Amino acid sequence: MTYTETDLVATMERLAGADLAALTQQQRDWLDQFHAGGPEAVDRLLPGLRLAAGSTVLDIGSGLGGPARQIARSTGATVVGVDITPAYVEAAQELTDAAGLAERVRFFCSDIAGYDQDGFDAGYTMHVQMNVEDKKAFFAGIAHRLRPGAPFATFEVCLGAGGRPAPPLPWSLDGSDSFLIAADELRDTIRAAGFEPVEWVDETEWVRQWFEDLGKRLASGEARATLPALLADGPMRMLNYAVAVSEGTVTVHRGLFLRTAA
Ligand SMILES: C[S@@+](CC[C@H](N)C(=O)[O-])C[C@H]1O[C@@H](n2cnc3c(N)ncnc32)[C@H](O)[C@@H]1O
Repeated sequence: MTYTETDLVATMERLAGADLAALTQQQRDWLDQFHAGGPEAVDRLLPGLRLAAGSTVLDIGSGLGGPARQIARSTGATVVGVDITPAYVEAAQELTDAAGLAERVRFFCSDIAGYDQDGFDAGYTMHVQMNVEDKKAFFAGIAHRLRPGAPFATFEVCLGAGGRPAPPLPWSLDGSDSFLIAADELRDTIRAAGFEPVEWVDETEWVRQWFEDLGKRLASGEARATLPALLADGPMRMLNYAVAVSEGTVTVHRGLFLRTAA
C-alpha cells in the first residue's frame, strides 16, 4: 500500500520551520504538487481547460491539493477534488483553509464512482491512473461527472520501452499497486470512455529536463522542505522515477479531450 503518510501538515511545518499560515507560495509549491513538473505542469494544462471565474472544475485524485489551489487562484474557478486517501484529503483541506481559498476549493474523500455531483464545466487528473487497475470504469466515471463538451486534461505516466520501472516509485512503494499501460493504449481507453481526443503530447523530454533542474536546485540547497522529504522513502521514489524517465521505461503524456455527448 502506498500513500501511508499521516500528520502531513505537522511534517510540512517541521520541514519548513514555519506555521502553515506563514509558508510562502513557493514553499507550498515545493510540498503540495505531487507529480513531475510541479506548478509548471499545471500551467501546461490550463489553456486547454478554458476556465473563467465561476467555472466548476473536478480534480480526480487531488492529493495534497496543490493543482486545485493553483487553478482556483489563477482562474477564479471553483475546484472540487476527490481522492481516496483520507490523510491527503485532510491535509489538502487544511492547506486550502490556510491559503484562504476554502470558499472555492474543497475536497471529498471518495473514488470517482462514489462521488455523485455532475455537470462540471471541466475536469483534470494528474499522475493518478497509474494506481487504477480498472481504467475503463475510472474514465467512464469521470465522463459521467462532466457536462457534454467539457474539456478534460490529463498529465499521466505511461509504460515506455525496456521493461517495468523499479520500485519504489512515487505512486507505488512495492509495485503491487502500479498499473502502467502504454501511452497509445491509455489514450484509446480514455477515448472509449466518452472523450474525443484534442491533444496527446509526449512530455517525457520536458519532464526529464525538469528532473535535471530539480536535482541542481536541491544540490544548491535552494529548497529544504520538499515533497521527497515529506513522503515515506520519498528521495528513493523520486530518484527511481527520474531514472525511469531518463532510461525510457516510462513516458509522461499530456492529454486534452472533450467530453462527447452522452
Ligand atoms: C501521485 S498522487 C497525485 C496527486 C495530485 N493529482 C497531484 O498531482 O498533486 C496520486 C493520488 O491519487 C490518489 N488516488 C489513487 N487512486 C485513486 C482513485 N482510484 N480515485 C481517486 N484518487 C486516487 C492517491 O490517493 C493520491 O493522492
